[in-house]
Amino acid sequence: MRKFVSFSIAAMLITVLVFLTQAQQLSDKAQLGRELFHDPTFKGTINPKVATGLSCANCHADFDDEDEPDGVIRAGHSVIGVPQRGSAKGGMIKGADFARAAGGGGFCYQHFLQKIPESKVNPTAIPAEHAEALMAYFEAISEGKKGPQFEMQMLDAAAKTEAGEKIAAMTGDTKKGWELWGRACVVCHPTPKKAGIGIQLVRTRPPRDIDKTITRWATKIRGGGSLMPFYASDILSDQDIADILAFLREQMEGTAR
Ligand code: HEC
Ligand code: HEC
Repeated sequence: MRKFVSFSIAAMLITVLVFLTQAQQLSDKAQLGRELFHDPTFKGTINPKVATGLSCANCHADFDDEDEPDGVIRAGHSVIGVPQRGSAKGGMIKGADFARAAGGGGFCYQHFLQKIPESKVNPTAIPAEHAEALMAYFEAISEGKKGPQFEMQMLDAAAKTEAGEKIAAMTGDTKKGWELWGRACVVCHPTPKKAGIGIQLVRTRPPRDIDKTITRWATKIRGGGSLMPFYASDILSDQDIADILAFLREQMEGTAR
């Protein structure tokens, strides 16, 4: 009898274990989505002549980075909960287009991975099979989690300038700025003096009017433009940007060596 009981318990444990491993396994479609998410060539389908070298993973976490922070500051929010959002780009992508555009990722696919200008982007131009795979992946990793709650900030030109001027007038902490740089900017600007996907910011000769440059830069960080992603205020606060700018100013003035 006792033998039978321990046998039943062992059988139950095995069943539970098999169930758990199965639950963790992704479908083929979701697995393809995971691989695309990390691949700047999109499985070799993106023309190398236009590829930027960026992958979705450079700007979005595929885990809850608020609950389990890894220290990296990504320009976009986590993709946890994307399928539940129902619309993207502040309501510009909705209805049947929402899934077809991979929950808004189709915009990023053209703009950030292939440098297609914002005005020419068609968010549903991503191959249907890839959009489906990405959505299947987002669905699989979202199970039971709502994901980040945020309001899409779409600033017009005037609001960007206003934000830039406000930030440029603030005092920043250079040490914090350097650290924030490492967490947020290195993917594209390896150091202030070295170009990567982003341009070289600090040159041998400082600009004639550093204040003016700082104001332009503050506007660019908050507002984005070309391949430079915008940083919303729940991702980098005004003070964070002021700290980064204080650091860059110090580098430009050549006081820190
Ligand atoms: C250079 C950075 C960058 C890259 C690369 C990038 N994104 Fe984005 N993405 C953003 C930013 C910034 C937003 C604005 C909304 C936000 O903060 O999530 C955004 C928005 C989105 C949204 C919609 C959010 C909403 O509610 O409107 C989705 C979904 C998304 N991206 C998925 C992707 C996928 C999939 C890829 C890869 C094909 C990708 N992104 C590549 C920066 C990027
Ligand atoms: C996904 C890549 C990417 C990331 C991440 C990124 N940048 Fe950029 N950045 C660029 C590109 C590309 C340009 C050039 C844009 C252009 O041509 O207008 C640029 C331009 C800039 C400019 C404007 C320079 C000028 O003189 O016009 C500033 C300032 C800047 N980046 C600062 C930052 C800071 C600070 C961070 C981190 C908070 C950051 N960038 C993160 C890609 C990036």
